Amino acid sequence: MVSHKETVCVTGASGFIGSWLVMRLLERGYFVRATVRDPVNGVLGIMKACDKAKTVRRIIFTSSAGTVNVEEHQKNVYVENDWSDLDFIMSKKMTGWMYFLSKTLAEKAAWDYAKENGLDFISIIPTLVIGPFITTSMPPSLITALSPITRNEAHYSIIRQGQYVHLDDLCNAHIFLYEQADAKGRYVCSSHDATILSISEFIRKKYPEYNVPSTFEGVDENLESIVFSSKKLIDMGFSFKYSLEEMLVESIETCRQKGFLPVSLPDPSIFEDKVPTSDDKIEHKTGAGLPDDVVPCKKTEPVVIREKTDACMPAEQMCA
Ligand SMILES: NC(=O)c1ccc[n+]([C@@H]2O[C@H](COP(=O)([O-])OP(=O)(O)OC[C@H]3O[C@@H](n4cnc5c(N)ncnc54)[C@H](OP(=O)(O)O)[C@@H]3O)[C@@H](O)[C@H]2O)c1
Repeated sequence: MVSHKETVCVTGASGFIGSWLVMRLLERGYFVRATVRDPVNGVLGIMKACDKAKTVRRIIFTSSAGTVNVEEHQKNVYVENDWSDLDFIMSKKMTGWMYFLSKTLAEKAAWDYAKENGLDFISIIPTLVIGPFITTSMPPSLITALSPITRNEAHYSIIRQGQYVHLDDLCNAHIFLYEQADAKGRYVCSSHDATILSISEFIRKKYPEYNVPSTFEGVDENLESIVFSSKKLIDMGFSFKYSLEEMLVESIETCRQKGFLPVSLPDPSIFEDKVPTSDDKIEHKTGAGLPDDVVPCKKTEPVVIREKTDACMPAEQMCA
């Protein structure tokens, strides 16, 4: 608990990360002000408001791994000095390119503004954030992380050589960096790396009822993982609490409890020769089963979780 009650402002407080961070800050004794969005002004608007107020002690910017490693040739290890290649992003326009571009430009603009105006500014770079959640819709990062279950193939490339951090570890890292007087610069916040094969193997063993695939196009068993090093954060005294298995289990269990995942899925090979009909059995959880808008698809199509999350998926991936 903090000894005196300070007020902290959390933007994006209705989101997956923001809502959990507000919960942890309140538990720690902070007063929290949550902002609603202003689509006209992004991070620079927030920084200008902080500068004008003259009462803001420190700004913590939630950056993204997408500002770090989007480039043609992947390194084995990424650190805080690395920045994504904007020319590469613009030329390839890969899945998620607008997100990578806007996050990178936003963080660079924020650094320039902070330096010009003498603001105490820190950025934290999470990799894929997973774990339990208190929001009412499926968090976009869980759509990606659990894509081997839902067969949402558009997301496989993101977790082909993925890195992960538990939501609670990430929120604790935000608070840790806020409280460390000598924190400075960018901080990678990532506790585990894994290929899509090892993620899928774990889910297949723990949840055989999902019939998770064991092979993926273009992925062989020798594929190595890519590391995002959190050495700078750990050297400052931070420690991660959660294992990768805990992150995945808590993600899956929360999605099941909230009805965002069915309790089982058939082996996709049964759809090989026919479009599924209402006779194809999909088990529903009593009382909180598959939502009406989750539909089984043909083998090559993903199970689509619709709701607020449609905007995250390319239109060609929709099968309903
Ligand atoms: N989840 C991850 O794996 C991950 C990984 C790396 C970095 N991050 C970063 O973490 C932050 C939060 O991510 P999340 O997963 O919690 O996403 P989320 O669940 O989609 O929440 C995003 C929050 O930001 C608000 N927002 C969106 N656009 C805004 C704008 N232009 N101005 C002000 N507020 C805006 C949203 O408000 P509405 O409710 O009005 O839409 C929502 O409250 C993002 O900056 C993201 O880049 C996330």
